[in-house]
Amino acid sequence: MSDSGSTSKHVSLVEALQSRRAIVCAGAGGVGKTTVSASLALAAARLGRRVLVVTIDPSRRLAETLGVSRHLPEPTPLDPARLAALGVHPPGSLDAWMLDPGIVSDRTVESFAQTPDDARRLLANPVYQGLSRMTAGMQEFTAVEAMHTFVTTGRYDLVVLDTPPARNALRFLDAPRRVSAFMDRRIFEAFAPTTAGSGLVRRLAGSVVEKVLDVALGQNTRKAVQEFFALFGALLQHLETNQQTMVRFLRSDAVGFVLVTSPHRAAVDEALALEARCRAILGVPLLGRVLNQSLAADDDAAPYPAASLFGDEDAATVAAALPVLTRLAEAEQAEITAHRETAVRLERESGTTWVLPRLPVAASNLEALNALVERVLKA
Ligand SMILES: Nc1ncnc2c1ncn2[C@@H]1O[C@H](COP(=O)(O)OP(=O)(O)OP(=O)(O)O)[C@@H](O)[C@H]1O
Ligand SMILES: [Mg+2]
Repeated sequence: MSDSGSTSKHVSLVEALQSRRAIVCAGAGGVGKTTVSASLALAAARLGRRVLVVTIDPSRRLAETLGVSRHLPEPTPLDPARLAALGVHPPGSLDAWMLDPGIVSDRTVESFAQTPDDARRLLANPVYQGLSRMTAGMQEFTAVEAMHTFVTTGRYDLVVLDTPPARNALRFLDAPRRVSAFMDRRIFEAFAPTTAGSGLVRRLAGSVVEKVLDVALGQNTRKAVQEFFALFGALLQHLETNQQTMVRFLRSDAVGFVLVTSPHRAAVDEALALEARCRAILGVPLLGRVLNQSLAADDDAAPYPAASLFGDEDAATVAAALPVLTRLAEAEQAEITAHRETAVRLERESGTTWVLPRLPVAASNLEALNALVERVLKA
C-alpha cells in the first residue's frame, strides 16, 4: 500500500512492533481488537521481544485464546513449549494479563496508604468502592499507570494493550484528564485534610458544607466521603502528580495507537470518526490502522465457477448449478473489490493502513492466531 500516495510514510507493522514500547489497540465493538492485540503481541514475541499483552476488556475471549485465567493479580507467562512450537524463542517471550482494574487500584491503595489499617479501611470504604469500581477514569488511569510501570521498569520490551469497545476506549484514552477532573481542586479542598487527620474535622465540623452534604447524601454517606478523602489524600496527590507523567507517556514516541476496523462501510465510518476523536483527545497522530477481516488481503483470486470444475456431473446438474455459483462468485468478487478500495482509501485519506485477512475459522486458539501473525509479519 506504500505507493498509494499517503501523506505520511508507510511504516511496516514489524518496524512498529520493534520500535515501540507500548501499542494500544482501539476500535469499535467486535471489529477484532482483542484478536489483533493478541496477534501483534505474538508477532512481536516471534521477533524476539519480551511482550506483555494486557486487556481491560472484561470479555473472556483473549483469556481463552491465550489459555490463561482472568483477573489474576499478576501477568501470567504463556507456556514456553507452546510458544516455541509457534516460533517464539528466547529472548522472545509472551505474558498475558487480564486486567481487573479493581485489583490494580486496590494495589495502588495498599502501596500509598500510610498504614495497613488505613489501607484496609479505605478498601472497605463505600465511597472508594463506588469510585474504584464505577468511575471509569479512575480504573483506566490505573491501567495506564500499570502499563507505564511495566514499560519504564524494563520488565517487558513491549506492552500491547487491548481496549474495550470504542466508547469505553475513548474514556480510557482520556483517563488522565478525567482523573484530574475528578480531583477538582474545589472538591479536594473541601474534603481533604491539610495535615493528616486534623484539618478535615476542623474545617467541616458544623460547617454549612457538612449540613448540605448531610441533606444531599445522608449522614452515613457524608461520613464515608470524609473518611475517603482523609485516607485518600496521599493517593490523590500522587495521582495528580502522575497524571501529567501519564499524559506525556501516552503522547510520547514510546506509545503507538492502532485503530482496528473491519472493512464494512459502517465500521470504517465509525473508525474514521473515532480516529478524529482520538486525535483530539490525545493530540497525537495514530501509528496506523488495521483493516481486519479483509478479503482483499488474499492475493489469490476467487476461483470463478466454470463448467470444467464439475468433472463428471451430468450436463443438466451443471447447467442448474452454474448460474447460482456464478452469482455467488460475483458477489464475493465485488466484496473483494470493495475491501481493496477501502484499504486504498484509508491509506490515502488517513495514512498507514495494514490489511489483515479474514481467517477461514475464528481465531479461537493460539495456533489459529498464528495464521494471522504470519500476515502481521508481512504487513
Ligand atoms: N481476522 C479475523 N479472521 C476471522 N475471524 C476474526 C478475525 N478477527 C476477529 N475475528 C473474530 O471476530 C470476532 C470478534 O473478534 P474480537 O473479539 O477480537 O473483537 P473485539 O473488537 O475485541 O470485540 P469486543 O469489542 O467485543 O471486545 C471473534 O469471534 C474473532 O474470532
Ligand atoms: Mg475485545
